[in-house]
Amino acid sequence: MGFREYINQIDEKGLLRKVDIEVSKKLEISGILKEIEPTPVMFNNIKGSEFRVIGNLFCTKNVIASYFDVSPADLIPMLSKAITERSEPEIVSNAPCQEIIESSVDLDKLPILFHCEKDGGNYISSAVVITRDPDYGQNLDFHRAMQFSKDKFATRIVRGRHFHKFLEKNGELEVAFCIGNSPNILIAGATSVDIGVDELHIANALESIKVVKANSVDLLIPAEAEFVLEGRVYMEENHAEGPFVDLTETYDVIREEPIFEVKKITHRKDAIWQALLPGALEHKILMGMPREPTIFNKVNETGVKCLDVNINPGGCSWLHAIVQIDKKSEEDGKKAINGAFTGHTSCKHVFIVDKDIDIYNPLSVEWAMATRFQGDIRMIIKDKEPGSSLDPSAEPGTKMTTKIGFDLTKPLVVKGKSFDIADFPKVDLNKYF
Ligand SMILES: Cc1cc2nc3c(=O)[nH]c(=O)nc-3n(C[C@H](O)[C@H](O)[C@H](O)COP(=O)(O)O)c2cc1C
Repeated sequence: MGFREYINQIDEKGLLRKVDIEVSKKLEISGILKEIEPTPVMFNNIKGSEFRVIGNLFCTKNVIASYFDVSPADLIPMLSKAITERSEPEIVSNAPCQEIIESSVDLDKLPILFHCEKDGGNYISSAVVITRDPDYGQNLDFHRAMQFSKDKFATRIVRGRHFHKFLEKNGELEVAFCIGNSPNILIAGATSVDIGVDELHIANALESIKVVKANSVDLLIPAEAEFVLEGRVYMEENHAEGPFVDLTETYDVIREEPIFEVKKITHRKDAIWQALLPGALEHKILMGMPREPTIFNKVNETGVKCLDVNINPGGCSWLHAIVQIDKKSEEDGKKAINGAFTGHTSCKHVFIVDKDIDIYNPLSVEWAMATRFQGDIRMIIKDKEPGSSLDPSAEPGTKMTTKIGFDLTKPLVVKGKSFDIADFPKVDLNKYF
């Protein structure tokens, strides 16, 4: 369908709110988007910018599933299949993202939002970043970028990311920060696969896309993007980056990070800037959802039948995973815990439940914990190991953390009280009221 067609579709269905009065990119658009979350909003009149801004587009699994015309339960198999059955996008020579090629770079003309009071500056948060290494080829991921001049950003590059490996190897990389993307490209950018895999091929397997050669760098970029900021990221000099709100909704610290120098800006004629609120639902869904298939596959590899995985927003869509299994042996819970931690190494707490528990309902999961769990025999506490740098409680600098797996499944042989929820009689209320 693509970004544009999707916007038109939700508009026609009356699902898109519009703000026509003038709004500021500083602390106003982000406030409105947060207040109205998860409703999508288009801002038609931005102070100091000719461009429109849209936000809250893909905040829930239901919305993403409806974009792909599947049910939420089909998302994990669909993502798994796209990762294994990747396909090359069609290369075109004319593309909407290059309708306008700006003659000079002035980032102040773009609606780069200032999100929260203590932020270090205006931030790009929705860009899918494309780069290339001579040996490994192209890579896609996300890197927030804090504007500090008319043509430069400090960009957050977590150590260990493929982008970081490429940068350490080459010292400098050509990049394209692509803004205004459909979910297939956003999800592909957020997926971690083997180094050397061009995630645009995952995007194409999810929904076919066209790519075009970037205007000033040797990269293939999504033809339908709204904006493309081309240039180079280099290590020879750093700049302070932050503070900025991260996935946990807490402020991340200031770090010295590499610089992204913008050399060329291209965009569509009436380009729409995609806002993405840091730490909010859309950020969470894009971070967590691509890890669900990897947990699903790793649990299945242990020999335990995994039925579903939810990396839930209450766990910041990163630190907690709820894994539903079809338990056949007493060891299955513990095997599934180990599989889940292998499938998502940043995860801190894993909860294994039976098939009668609704993994999308926190009350149901807590019920399983209350009625089926005994800490001395059903809990795995791992020795300290590297977890998530996002977790404020992990050891600062080293991200060392204590990971715990909770086996909330019921025993296969029951001695004493039943573990099942009792059924009430089913009645037809129309007969009585
Ligand atoms: C909305 C969003 C924002 C993100 N911001 C950053 C960031 O600023 N820096 C970073 O290193 N990773 C960030 N990530 C995570 C990585 O982009 C993501 O884990 C990616 O899969 C890593 O790709 P790789 O496996 O090719 O290294 C973000 C992810 C999302 C979905």
